Amino acid sequence: MASKTIRPVRSVQGAVVVPGDKSISHRAVILGALSNRTCTVDNFLEGEDCLCTVEAFRAMGLSIERQGPHLRIEGKGLDGLRAPKESVWCGNSGTTTRLLMGVLTGQPFEVRLEGDASLSRRPMDRVIDPLSKMGAFFYAEGSDPVQGSDPKVLPLCMRGTHSVKPIQYKSPVASAQVKSAILLAGLYASGTTSVEEPSLSRDHTERMLAASGVPAKREGNKLSVQGTATVRVSAFHVPGDLSSAAFMLAAGLLKAPQEFVVKGVGVNPTRTGFIDIVKAMGGACRYVKTTESGGEPIADIAVKLSAMKGGSIAGEIIPRAIDEIPILAVLATQAKGRTVIADAQELRVKESDRLSTVCAELSKMGARMTEKSDGLVIEGPTALKGSVVQSHGDHRLAMSLAIAALAADGPTTIEDVDCVDTSFPTFWDLLEQIRS
Ligand code: S3P
Repeated sequence: MASKTIRPVRSVQGAVVVPGDKSISHRAVILGALSNRTCTVDNFLEGEDCLCTVEAFRAMGLSIERQGPHLRIEGKGLDGLRAPKESVWCGNSGTTTRLLMGVLTGQPFEVRLEGDASLSRRPMDRVIDPLSKMGAFFYAEGSDPVQGSDPKVLPLCMRGTHSVKPIQYKSPVASAQVKSAILLAGLYASGTTSVEEPSLSRDHTERMLAASGVPAKREGNKLSVQGTATVRVSAFHVPGDLSSAAFMLAAGLLKAPQEFVVKGVGVNPTRTGFIDIVKAMGGACRYVKTTESGGEPIADIAVKLSAMKGGSIAGEIIPRAIDEIPILAVLATQAKGRTVIADAQELRVKESDRLSTVCAELSKMGARMTEKSDGLVIEGPTALKGSVVQSHGDHRLAMSLAIAALAADGPTTIEDVDCVDTSFPTFWDLLEQIRS
């Protein structure tokens, strides 16, 4: 297992470009595959998670190749997939698994899905329940493929159907993966499928469906899609990933005496909780230039060293900042006063149990932090000390610790850092590049 030692930094400077958005890259491959024509994707994220999605569709008979700067997907329409010969490897990727289950609900063949140890602990019943109602059949390994069973985690086998039933589903969690799985399965249903969530999660699927000629109707937090329409899309542009940018922006907020810029970042309002929270905590953060591409707003984001203060992070903003809570926890250790993070119990079922791992690892660096059932309480500011810390195989924890290490009093060694390649393969190079 690889480790990295990060030295503290006096200051950071410059302008950086982060790789393409992970959520949008997955969806571009999926909708490109279901399109009735060839689709090119530019700025596709070549991280391990998204490559699992690519491999899954290749295994189902589609040609997906790099062509210069683009990914070229030979879409064959909703019914153009064939049974894979082997198990589909979903790696560390919850998005691959859950969105694929949605598509597979409309495929009348059997597929076995498997993933790494972390993914095999994550709850799949949140998608299995609604997709079973739509006609998909799930069974755990070793159980009877006719009688079925009640699998809740990977590995598992599933079989979709020719006759997907539309459902009206009220999701107990605000999860874009659950919402997207149901909407994708709904493409195959005879009638209108709807899904309502307790608060709005990221809406890339809806936006990208609309760009593909299949508008999803939104009423409040309820989305509906009409089945058996044709997906028609020939190009997607993937903006920079705000969830990756957040690490660079945090470095700037802690260490950039002059404005430090991350360019070309997707700033879809269902994703910008991090920016809103940083501003509310007194962080100097502004959009320098905004544009739009493929229905997604994009901005260059500038930040500067700021005296931040603690605050409350809870309620509807949580799904809009769900992947950024670990790095917000790092910022909170350097902010003045108490930061209370609540309503974030979903963090317990991410790549690691992030409430527990963030608290354990930042505490090793001297952070004053307590774990609650649904959040964290952090006292600041605290002088962080160089330490030996663990990623727990969680990419966002590894990168959060690396940013904390920039502000520590001596070198910090982070163990088990290969996981960073799942979402941000250029992270370590950029971390070197911004040092001054
Ligand atoms: C994602 C949705 C979020 C997020 C994950 C990516 C997506 O998960 O944490 O990193 O691409 O739909 P949930 O939808 O389960 O909250």
